[in-house]
Amino acid sequence: MTEQGAEPGAMARVERVGVALGPRSYDVLVGAGLLARAGAEIAPLLSRPRLAVLTEERVAALHLEGLRAGLEAEGIAMSALALPPGEGTKGWAGLERAVEWLIAEKVERGDMVLALGGGVIGDLAGFAAAVLRRGVRFVQVPTSLLAQVDSSVGGKTGINSAQGKNLIGAFHQPSLVLADIGLLDSLPRRDFLAGYGEVVKYGLLGDAGFFEWLEAKGPALAAGDRGLRAQAVRHSVAMKAAIVARDETEAGERALLNLGHTFGHALEAATGYSDRLLHGEAVGLGCVLAFELSARLGLCPQEAPGRVAAHLAAMGLPYRLDQVSGGLPGAEALIGLMAQDKKVLAGRMRFVLARGIGQAFVSGDVPGDALRAVLEEALEG
Ligand code: GLY
Repeated sequence: MTEQGAEPGAMARVERVGVALGPRSYDVLVGAGLLARAGAEIAPLLSRPRLAVLTEERVAALHLEGLRAGLEAEGIAMSALALPPGEGTKGWAGLERAVEWLIAEKVERGDMVLALGGGVIGDLAGFAAAVLRRGVRFVQVPTSLLAQVDSSVGGKTGINSAQGKNLIGAFHQPSLVLADIGLLDSLPRRDFLAGYGEVVKYGLLGDAGFFEWLEAKGPALAAGDRGLRAQAVRHSVAMKAAIVARDETEAGERALLNLGHTFGHALEAATGYSDRLLHGEAVGLGCVLAFELSARLGLCPQEAPGRVAAHLAAMGLPYRLDQVSGGLPGAEALIGLMAQDKKVLAGRMRFVLARGIGQAFVSGDVPGDALRAVLEEALEG
């Protein structure tokens, strides 16, 4: 991670990261200007020159015409459905609308669906593609940082249940991911930073050198340096691709990607999945708590949690629970929310803990009193 960042607006080169999954292998392309090249990249995958695009209204206003032009350049026709923005779309009603629309559009088994949007649209469109006619292929064009570094890669698709997030879904790998770094320019700063919470996660879970690089380059990256953004996205995607290739269905190592998520999901549930706390912000706070818990259990150096928090603070991300607007319930209530986590195994909560920065591991052996103490201390501030 020593390369210099290019000037914003400079023509960045496109990097190709492979996700090696045998017959379900695919490429993730990372670079600026990919939307304009979408037709050329997708055409070889199509059985006929048409695409059904699922997107959301805000993204459509910004990027749908750019996508249309990129596809038209290769003679590919598209039709699009723009759903309302927000997590509320990722439920049964949104899925029904998407699937019924795809059927009305006469999308055939050999056709391709394209997801243009952030994590909500990518997860929903991927699941719609998974269940439509028992499975059609799909392309991810992630427009948020969070989607580019995490949710568009790895084939986790699905919707939320009234009882919890992401509880309904399927593993369905995309056929291609186009991560256009230029699209990140239009993100509100808070959304960009929330996605950055997931970037930090990669350093913390498996690459101390990357975390150090982020400590040095994070502020310039957040300020808009496209070269640095491309490097961070490529590195994050490469880390995720390697893990997914070894453990596609999360039988083991893939659970490391959930660092910060057990705490994070509880915080999101406690704040009603609202803009009081965005997912990536919750993950950042969750990473601090996971390191606090690891330090309390004597597993990692005592200074590690402070270093994680200091980097989040330097980036302008929340790093203390008293920064969550509207307050939080007590430790017991948060522990109750954690128990609904997908990683619960035979009734036991599993945590991603760390032996140090870049050294995460999964533990099913966390004493309840240590967990309670960490939460109580964090809630006291
Ligand atoms: N977002 C975690 C995973 O894809 O496994």
